[in-house]
Amino acid sequence: MTIKNDPQRMEKIVSLCKRRGFIFQASEIYGGLNGVWDYGPLGVELKRNLKDYWWRVMVRERDDVVGMDGAILTHRAVLKASGHEDTFSDPMVDCRTCKTRLRADQLPEKNGVKQCPSCGGKDLTEARPFNLMFSTQIGASADPDAIAYLRPETAQSIFVQFKNVLDTARKKLPFGIAQIGKAFRNEINPRNYIFRSREFEQMELEYFCRPEEGMKLLDYWLEQRLKFYENIGLPREKLHVLTVPDSDRAFYSKGTYDIEYEFPFGLQELEGVAYRTDYDLTQHQTASGKPLDYFDEETKARFIPHVIEPSAGVDRTVLALICEAYDEETVTDDKGKSETRIVLRFHPRVAPIKAGVFPLLKNQAALVEKAREVQALLRPLMNVFYDETGAIGRRYRRQDEAGTPFGITIDFETLGERDPALRNTVTLRHRDSMEQERVKIEELCGRLMSAIS
Ligand code: GAP
Repeated sequence: MTIKNDPQRMEKIVSLCKRRGFIFQASEIYGGLNGVWDYGPLGVELKRNLKDYWWRVMVRERDDVVGMDGAILTHRAVLKASGHEDTFSDPMVDCRTCKTRLRADQLPEKNGVKQCPSCGGKDLTEARPFNLMFSTQIGASADPDAIAYLRPETAQSIFVQFKNVLDTARKKLPFGIAQIGKAFRNEINPRNYIFRSREFEQMELEYFCRPEEGMKLLDYWLEQRLKFYENIGLPREKLHVLTVPDSDRAFYSKGTYDIEYEFPFGLQELEGVAYRTDYDLTQHQTASGKPLDYFDEETKARFIPHVIEPSAGVDRTVLALICEAYDEETVTDDKGKSETRIVLRFHPRVAPIKAGVFPLLKNQAALVEKAREVQALLRPLMNVFYDETGAIGRRYRRQDEAGTPFGITIDFETLGERDPALRNTVTLRHRDSMEQERVKIEELCGRLMSAIS
């Protein structure tokens, strides 16, 4: 399926992300580091909410999954056994004209001849494999034994710690080990903003099972993961499931699905759900000489468990959330003037700021005091933003652009000056409909918590 590219929309999103403090280029004041990004104040909250929700549904709300947090620096032997040292590579060519290094499998063709996308040159070197792992040196020694890698995926530390977790968490099959953390790949062509970068985060689950349960659990986890995306605001109709054909699947995998999303730059992978059989544990058992098998108390059999792996990218999902949320609409103000409202329609669960708290006027001490009280009431429960500067309409607009689902205004009614019956009520404004209602302060926590959790 081809999805229409919309570079203009993407440009607007990138510009908003910088202007509002979601995402910045890493090392920007020194010219930037290609394929590396920093998250600003709003971006870090969005990313944290996404990871927290993943952890909640994948670990805390389940009896059959435990978590771990492995090291980034990885022993060379781990990535030798997993196959990464020998085969984790992309085919690469160099353009002899402009010296650009390119991925051989992504070159545009003209009249059947491959071309350099930078200069149009056709004088390209032969394709050769380029290993994507970042290596480093442990300690002061220059000995090849001192080589270690920055992990290219979080999964391997889960396999390597399988026995320790099994022994300490005392789980029975089927059970999973989950991890969220950084991974590093020296991508030849980092592109599409934070979609393909050199430093990124993954949310991975390795779900261990008996061999006969594998295919059923593969479909179970695909369904769970689709529900997850719907629950954070990515509609089902924009998610596509690709059944990876036999020819493209890793040789050890019995089945793999890619979950793809309609980004403004096309249909692209968010997550892979793969049935990896017993490949990884067998590799590590053989290479380390340490048993990584499972003893089934009921059947008294020993075997290497099989594994299903839903592996999602944090940064890609953040980008999908921003792309999905971005909206522009024409609105008319009280004076009949129309203007464009930019609004990020995040699901309240992932929105970086849950509520803006506004005293109607900053020069009225009683309004300010009450607004600070409301801020203090909500703060332990959620991220709120206090703003007293500018006209109230402008303050609403600023929060619309940040994707804040609720605005709370403390006005003269709150103080009971106009109608004593309205004392201790506030105006609750809804971002998407812009509708306003009066709500008692004592009901605010309950109302907002049910929307954001
Ligand atoms: N353990 C399996 C594994 O790592 P993968 O398909 O290579 O599989 C899983 O990666 C997910 O990690 C991808 O679906 C994507 O969301 C994310 N990912 C991979 N490479 C990435 C990159 N260079 N930049 C951002 N995210 C990436």
